[in-house]
Formats: sequence, C-alpha cells, structure tokens
Amino acid sequence: MKKIITVIFAAALFLSAASAQENYVPSQSNLDARQEFASTRLGIFLHWGIYAMYGQGEWYLRDGRLLDSEYSKAAKGFYPIEFDAAEWAKAFKDAGAGYVTLTSRHHDGFSMFKTATSDYNVVDGTPFGRDVVGELCQACADEGLRFHLYYSLLDWHREDYPLGETGRDTGRRKDRQDYDSYFNFMKIQLKELLTNYPHLGGIWFDGLWDHKEKTFDWRIQDLYAHIHSIKPSCLIGNNHHINVIKGEDFQIFERDLPGQNSTGWNSYDSVSDVLPLEMCTTMPNGAWGYEVKVTSYKSTEEIIILLLKSAALNSNLLINIGPQPDGNLPAQALDRLKGLGEWMRTYSSTINGTTATAIPEQAWGVSTRTRDKVFLHVIKPKEIPSNGVTGRLVVPVTEKVAGVKEFVSGKPLPFTVSKDGFLTITTPSKPDASPDWVVEIDLK
Ligand code: GLC
Repeated sequence: MKKIITVIFAAALFLSAASAQENYVPSQSNLDARQEFASTRLGIFLHWGIYAMYGQGEWYLRDGRLLDSEYSKAAKGFYPIEFDAAEWAKAFKDAGAGYVTLTSRHHDGFSMFKTATSDYNVVDGTPFGRDVVGELCQACADEGLRFHLYYSLLDWHREDYPLGETGRDTGRRKDRQDYDSYFNFMKIQLKELLTNYPHLGGIWFDGLWDHKEKTFDWRIQDLYAHIHSIKPSCLIGNNHHINVIKGEDFQIFERDLPGQNSTGWNSYDSVSDVLPLEMCTTMPNGAWGYEVKVTSYKSTEEIIILLLKSAALNSNLLINIGPQPDGNLPAQALDRLKGLGEWMRTYSSTINGTTATAIPEQAWGVSTRTRDKVFLHVIKPKEIPSNGVTGRLVVPVTEKVAGVKEFVSGKPLPFTVSKDGFLTITTPSKPDASPDWVVEIDLK
C-alpha cells in the first residue's frame, strides 16, 4: 500500500511540474509588468553579437555555409571600442521608447553576457571582456527604460542541441545530441540572467520553429515555469509564429501587424485579447543583425505609420537596429531615432497609455483611445471626403462627445452627432501634418 501511495505521489509530482504552466495564473507583479509593458508603444530591438563583425546579418553562420570552428574565431577579435551603453540608452530614451530588447544569445550560440556554462561568451571569450548585457541593462535602468532579453532556443554551436531544420552543416559532431543536457544548459543560463540582472523584465524566445516534428518535446512549459518560479514578474514572449502557449505573458508578431500574415510563416489563428501584443520588425529592410551591404532603411515616416497602426491594434512596435562591430549604432538608425523622438515629443500621449477603439481602420487612417479621449490619426489626408473647401470625417460614437479639436493647435473643430450614433467632424479640406494629423475627441 505504502509503495502504491509513493508511486501515485511521485506521478502526481511529475505531472504537477509538467502542468505547472498549463494552470498558469500570473502573479500580481506579472500583471503589473504587463500593464507597464503595454503602456509605452515603442520598443527598441537590438541584434548584436559576433556576427556583427562579418556584417552579413545574424544568420551568417548558416547562410554563409560556414564551419562553426572558423566562424567562432571572430570572438577572439571582438573589441567594440566605441560601445557606450549609456549613450545607446539615452538615444533610445530620446527617441521616445519605453523599453529595449537585446539579444543575449542568438542562434550562433555566442552569449553576450558572463555565463558559467561556457567560455564562449563576451566576457571570457573576447579581448573586450566586458559584459554587454549587464552594461546595457544598467544603462536602461538608469534611463527608466524596461529591459528585455532575446534568448534563442536553438543553437548552431553546441553539440548537445539536437539538430533541427536549420544549421545542420556547421560541422558539429552529430553523436552528442542530448536534449536533457541542452535543456539543463538553458535553465542554468536563464537563471543566471534572471538573478544577475535584477532589472531584467522579460524573456523573448525565438527558434521554436526549428523542430516542427511532433515527436520533439521542447518542454517549453517547464522552461516557462522555471522562469516564473525565479521571477514571477518576468514577462515571457515567444516568437514561435503559432497560437499563444500557456505560460506566455505577451504575444509576438514577426514582421506583421497582429492578425496579418503577409510573410506567410505566421500560423497562429488567434490574436490574444487578454495579453499585451508586440509586433517586431527591422529598420533596415533586411536582416536583424548588422549588414554592411544594406543602404535602405525604412523612413522615419514609415516607422511612425507602423507605430500608429500597431497602437491602433493594441500592439507595441519593437523596431530593430543592428549595431556595428565597433559598438556604434549605424548613422541611419541614429537618424531614425532622432526623427522618432521629434515626433514623440509632440504625439506620444496619443499612443502611449492608449488602447484600440471600436472604429476599424479607415481609408484615411486609424484611431486610439484613453478612458475619456479618442484620437483619430489621419495618415492619408487625401482620403478625407472633401468639397474642396472643407473635409468631413465620420466615425461611430457610443459615448457623449464633449468637444472635438485639432490635437496640436487645440483649435476646436465643428461637429455634429446624429441620432443613429455617427459623429461628423468638419476638417480642413486637406489637413497637412505629415505623417499624422491628429483629431482629439473629448468624451464626457
Ligand atoms: C527570426 C530570425 C531571427 C531573428 C528574429 C527576430 O526568427 O530567425 O534571426 O532574431 O526573427 O524576430
């Protein structure tokens, strides 16, 4: 009898560990962190690692068909003499960002922080010898920016990582694959990150798509439980392109607005109406890591329009920069940050602290709202119906309208509300405030 009870008890323990996140109830500190995270709409994504030295994006080890034994030699030359975390954090803050997400370890397996798991890290494996994650984490804390870390689930360097769909030809021995060992390595690293950097607020996983076969079990919920047990407030997101998995605290959309799938690889069918949302995309129109050949960046206006469209869908925009190997941010990125900052200084209150409205996207633009204000963002003034003298914006309203004004000048705009609940606003014929002309509706 005693034996049976012991067996049942052991089985129950096993099941409870595995299902810990299936029954995941976020802590109050986690719910607060979600709210804080969703209250600022702009985040800065940074893809930085030894791949920056090759200047060919963060997938160069695989895409260049290199052997890891050669590729990894770049670590011994990594000395980004210009790196100044305080300067970076200030540039992000001045751009109006609320948080930063930095790659702690990308698919190439190189850690940008000090880890006891291996010397293949920025402190022990490079002449630079400085802890990039630690320095940026502190600088972000000093600027009042949230700080998240990207963490790759897949690894093209370690031999215990079971070969997946990518990085099969980097010259790793194939007889040492051992997911137990690799899983344990990830747990140790995640614990290091969560305990060594107290300001760390979130983990951004990537690479789950490397194993699509049903027989492969990532034990992802055990990993989530591990994180939440060390730090309940830590937000977990996963760029897996599928529906939200229990234990995640925000939903990620890669290179697409929530609900869209222009890339074709997003196989989720639901957008969460409970979790914060985050769209990520790059400033240059190519890779995420620094690419020497890239000359074309999204314009400041294009980034602002993406930011507006994200906010109107309840989503943050995480816009990516690939820092140079010398530790500088590319000049074009700095230019976009400056432009964003100029815009944000006037308009941030029309997106930060707002949510989506019941008004769907219109030909002229999108809308956001706070408790007692609605902001109409006119992105395409030409689409406002006009008689040549004045224009007309018509939107549905369910609440009482106290006033309507041009957001920047505060100039009142004439309006009427029809019995069937439509607000008609008289606007200039072609308002000019590129890229966004904002109308503020004050609700009673
Ligand atoms: C993709 C890429 C990866 C990049 C990520 C960022 O998953 O594989 O290199 O870090 O997108 O969203």
